[in-house]
Amino acid sequence: MDWGMRNRLSRIIKPATGKTVMLAVDHGYFQGPTTGLKNPGKTIKPLLPYADALMLTRGILRSQVDPGTDIPIILRVSGGTSVLKDDLSDEEITVSIEEAVRLNASAVALSVFVGAENERQTLVSLSRLVNEAQTYGIPVLAVTAVGKQMVRDARYLGLASRISAELGAHVVKTYYCDGFKQVSSSVPVPTVIAGGKKLPERDALVMTKNAIASGAVGVDMGRNIFQSDSPVGMIKAVRAIVHQGAGVDAAYRIYEAEKKTKAAKKKVGKGR
Ligand code: R5P
Repeated sequence: MDWGMRNRLSRIIKPATGKTVMLAVDHGYFQGPTTGLKNPGKTIKPLLPYADALMLTRGILRSQVDPGTDIPIILRVSGGTSVLKDDLSDEEITVSIEEAVRLNASAVALSVFVGAENERQTLVSLSRLVNEAQTYGIPVLAVTAVGKQMVRDARYLGLASRISAELGAHVVKTYYCDGFKQVSSSVPVPTVIAGGKKLPERDALVMTKNAIASGAVGVDMGRNIFQSDSPVGMIKAVRAIVHQGAGVDAAYRIYEAEKKTKAAKKKVGKGR
């Protein structure tokens, strides 16, 4: 691996711990104005100090994120479909590699839909993206997207993750499942988990803890952070698990403390 590629990866997966907390806010690329992301700039700003990288589309990056920030960017470069379609797999590469360089992306991200109608198209896109990104030393994060008709078990997620790595992805993002060790151990590159649909905060922290214990190098989490009643509390709690090895109870206390502090500040503000 060349120096630029390794350096970009080191900006995302922190060398001090070998772990990462990526904040995913790219949902609008097919979901439109997702709950919690109606005003993405407002959602993102308070979370930036606690995120190791920010995953988003170029439209939200250009319009909502201060270019003076030093957060590493994971640029989503696939799309072409919407939640109105039954089959979400009809994606292609939507952003050129030159644009990714211009936006100073530390990595580019693309979804693959193994087992879906457009499996081949998305896998060929991944391979093409790796070819192009390799030229500029930019790592590729493959998102193993799950079609509506597919089960999120170790067999399926392991298949999709391994194929992504075989085709050249430098990092694989998948979902947590029972037997996750089977998934992470069969992939020769770092794996991170998506959070998936919003869960009760403690459950999301348990999932994070289990994923790290089963070989994930971190999370690329969205809704379980920005749809929480305390997004800052949640990202701090997730961070404590990922980087410091905190237990679920200790992490949950971090979330609760932040939530209480915010509520107290709000009360003081109202009293003025
Ligand atoms: C799909 O919409 C995106 O790739 C998200 O970034 C991904 O699903 C992670 O977000 P969440 O934790 O909300 O599942």
